[in-house]
Amino acid sequence: MASLSIIGAGTWGIALANMLADSGHDVTVWSAIGDEIDYIAQYHKHPKLKDVAISTKLSLTKDLREAIEGKDIIVMAVPSVFVRSTAKQVGEFIKEDQIIVDVAKGIEPVTLMTMSEVIHEEINKIKPFDYGQLIALSGPTHAEEVSIGLPSTIVSAGVNIENAKFVQEVFSAPYMRVYTNDDIRGTEICGALKNIVALAAGIAHGLGYGDNATAALVTRGIHEITTLGLAMGCSIHTFYGLAGIGDLVVTCTSRHSRNNQCGTLIGQGYDVETAKKKVGMVVEGISALEAADALRIKYHVEMPIMRSVFNIINFSMPPAEEVKRLYARQHKSEEPFDVLMTIYDNPDVTKEHHGMKRVITYGTFDMLHYGHINLLRRAKALGDYLIVALSTDEFATLVKHKHCYFNYNERKSLLEAMRYVDLVIPEENWEQKMTDCKEYHIDILVMGDDWKGKFDYLKDQGVEVIYVPRTPEISTTKIKADLHSE
Ligand code: CTP
Repeated sequence: MASLSIIGAGTWGIALANMLADSGHDVTVWSAIGDEIDYIAQYHKHPKLKDVAISTKLSLTKDLREAIEGKDIIVMAVPSVFVRSTAKQVGEFIKEDQIIVDVAKGIEPVTLMTMSEVIHEEINKIKPFDYGQLIALSGPTHAEEVSIGLPSTIVSAGVNIENAKFVQEVFSAPYMRVYTNDDIRGTEICGALKNIVALAAGIAHGLGYGDNATAALVTRGIHEITTLGLAMGCSIHTFYGLAGIGDLVVTCTSRHSRNNQCGTLIGQGYDVETAKKKVGMVVEGISALEAADALRIKYHVEMPIMRSVFNIINFSMPPAEEVKRLYARQHKSEEPFDVLMTIYDNPDVTKEHHGMKRVITYGTFDMLHYGHINLLRRAKALGDYLIVALSTDEFATLVKHKHCYFNYNERKSLLEAMRYVDLVIPEENWEQKMTDCKEYHIDILVMGDDWKGKFDYLKDQGVEVIYVPRTPEISTTKIKADLHSE
């Protein structure tokens, strides 16, 4: 059994605390608001979860040191606006082997950091703390349902998959199924941005629209979140998982969602402040708006729904006018997620406007090995968007005289599965580099240093050409030769 502390006594913190105590774990709850702790100690109830009896097995404390020392897992369950200040206090007492699970959903305005990144940064100001010790727990889990034992699912995401698995183990319960994911950034982006789409769904509801509008918002909403996430280097699978589409569906359709409730009031004509007051709890979608809009600008992706919500909330645009604007947009296809298309589809955006650096590299990448991975990681680190021009079977065989073990489609699928690679295009001849660089607005061409000097002519075209050191002692040819000689 594990020992845990829940930092924050809101509805979600308490629902988790109850669930974990029921599973037999040793659970302590801490709150910065002393009255909250006193209320729970006296009544074993939470004022916002009236039907739920809070487990008497829980320990309650107002002392943060006591809450943190000796615990296996610290759960950060405070509203996103308090995450930085709370992390600063937690940093005083935390030890390097403790795991921090963040359940707050949001992106910090100005820094554009996710909540786990904020926590990591604050603690590291005090002491070294590995990012792998941070886990984001996110998914379609309304506190109101989890607290009464209704079946739910959630994702434990972290770059250290062993820690993510430990959290999976601890948080699994007869009514809670936990999956793991190593894409913590994608998981957190989903958690923060779905709240904005839920506001939109609420506004649509408040305007008197029906199920068709909700379905449209869920579908196009996940498209917007995915487009941004891919531009930020996240995995597409996260967006179609529980933290992505799962949480979006529940937030856009459930009566429990505060974002949805707040949106509904705004759609009905209430001003934002009154709507917030009537909901009576933090509306995370409103807090996330500024960061979402800054990310839209930074990564130059089109996010029309988010933008409309931003206009309604921050500029008091009438919701019905924003709907008209959304419908009047240029006709589109349900194009695949291609950040380049998204950007150049948008007539507002020119190359000068966006800070996104595009990198291209060329190769055969047969029997993908760690030398390739090193090259792709370095290439991606030099910019924001990596294109791999992959030799076709014909080009490899007839021109490069390499007989590939994996065919083009197989090699392409392997590359596409890598987090560093954003797009794979065919390499059909030696001469296409000039046109590729132009067509894809390339800033940097990266090659292994076995090609040193060979592509310097692209510099005349304004492309930076970088030759990175080859990883010693590995190549597809060597693997083949070694296997052959065995
Ligand atoms: N690469 C590298 N380090 C290695 C192997 C390859 O940095 N040990 C780089 C190459 O310089 C090139 C890219 O990976 O920029 C693709 O190389 P490719 O020719 O497909 O890989 P090799 O393993 O070198 O293939 P082969 O043995 O067929 O030459």
